Parts: sequence; C-alpha cells; structure tokens
Amino acid sequence: MQENTMEKPTFTFQPTPEDISTQTGAVMVELVKVTKIYPPDVVALRNVSFTARRGEIIFLTGASGAGKSTLLKLLCRQERPTKGLIEINGTDINKLKSAATQRLRQNIGVAYQDFRLLPRQSVYQNIAMAMEVQFKSVKEIRQRVTELLDKLSLIEKRNKPAGKLSRGEQQRVVIARAVANAPPLLLADEPTGNLDSNTTLLVMGLFHELNESGSAIIIATHDKSIYEGSNHRQFELHQGEITQIT
Ligand SMILES: Nc1ncnc2c1ncn2[C@@H]1O[C@H](COP(=O)(O)OP(=O)(O)OP(=O)(O)O)[C@@H](O)[C@H]1O
Ligand SMILES: [Mg+2]
Repeated sequence: MQENTMEKPTFTFQPTPEDISTQTGAVMVELVKVTKIYPPDVVALRNVSFTARRGEIIFLTGASGAGKSTLLKLLCRQERPTKGLIEINGTDINKLKSAATQRLRQNIGVAYQDFRLLPRQSVYQNIAMAMEVQFKSVKEIRQRVTELLDKLSLIEKRNKPAGKLSRGEQQRVVIARAVANAPPLLLADEPTGNLDSNTTLLVMGLFHELNESGSAIIIATHDKSIYEGSNHRQFELHQGEITQIT
C-alpha cells in the first residue's frame, strides 16, 4: 500500500489566527435548537442540539425517516434550518455569502446516501474530479486516487464507467471521492449500506485512518456492526428528536 500523501486537514473557509479547527478536541460543529420543517408540514428535525469536536467520530443512528440525512444536509448547507443555529468552526454557516459557502463545501467531504456519481465517467475520473476542482497537481491526484482504489479494492475497476458498477462498488467510489481531499469534516450517509462485512472493514479502516490524521467524521447508519462496541459517541434520532446514547 502507498503512503498517505495528504497534508493534515485544516478548515480554510474562514482562516483566522485562532483557527480552532487545528486543535484536537476543539468544537468543530455545533447545532443549537435546530428545527427543520419541509414544506408544508413535515417536521424532519425538532429542537436538535448537538456538538462534534475536531478529531471525533460520531455515529448518528435511528429508524428510516428519523432525520439522519436531513441533519447531514444541514451541515453542508444543502438544506437550511427552519429555526436554530448551525456553527462550523464558530461561524454561523447560514450567514455565509456564496463564495464563503463554496469554501465551506470544499472543506467538507460528503458521501451521499444516493451516491450522485457521474455514470458515464470512469471510476478514476469520478474520484479525481473532487481533487481537480481544488487545483491539486496531476501527480498528487494520480497518487491519491491510486492509493484509494487500492485501499478499497477497486483497482481493477478504475477505467470502468461508474454506472456499470455494482451498488457496493459504486458505494466505495462515493466514499473514495468524499475522502480524496482528506477533508477536516467528513459526512458519510449510510456508507456501508450495500457492503459485505469484509468490504465494510476496508471502508471503516479508511475512515479511521482519516480520523487519525485529524478529520472529524459523522456517520449516519443503520449498520450495528460498525457502531456496536465502538468507543465513539452515538446519537439516535427518533422522529426528529435527538438523544445521546453513548
Ligand atoms: N425534500 C424533502 N421534502 C419533504 N420531506 C422530506 C424531504 N426530505 C426528507 N423528508 C422527510 O423528512 C423526514 C426525515 O427524512 P430523512 O431523509 O432525513 O430520514 P433518514 O433518517 O435519513 O431516513 P433513511 O434511514 O431512510 O435514510 C422523513 O419524514 C422524510 O420523508
Ligand atoms: Mg437517510
């Protein structure tokens, strides 16, 4: 396996001398009394307060429809809260102008539940494009993408169109794309839903490696095998209300 060539991840969307994201254990994500109502009247999240610290792995569990994806979508500003405050690195993300929102998004890796791959583009290209938009060098992109394909057991699929892959293979491409830039914050929505137990271990190994380099990771999941017995905090959503379990 190749060395991890990525630099230590730091948030750059609002660089300040006292950038708290460089301190392990500092608060990175804070939700205060957040409610999300989808029009006209679907209450997806109700009065949710929640904190994630730098370098932390958090599991977000709960039944289908409980609000897990909604919470992740609020964090990357794909959705806006109806009420309440969402801060990342001490900044109210719903007050960011469009350029700052772009920079915020560049600091957050998202493995979407519904994948959002470009089906006609190759596996390699789907992952590489996440790095191209951040102007990484061709050499760095080649090294990193190859490293990820290797770690996720996808090397032989590198030139296949993503749309021709199995669900489990596509899921791994989505994960590789989300972690490619070693983002300071990774949001993984049901990342092991289509994977067998061995492939689940590969994905979790990659997440732990990223976490050891300083990234915070929030994982929405139904997969007990990845959170039971772990020493990471678990929050459960039940009809939009959050409870800390561990
Ligand atoms: N765009 C939307 N418009 C209206 N209602 C929505 C929308 N997205 C989600 N919902 C509703 O909000 C609630 C929470 O949905 P969400 O997708 O966050 O749940 P989830 O916990 O991720 O579920 P799953 O485990 O099935 O992925 C559900 O009642 C869902 O039907
Ligand atoms: Mg979901």
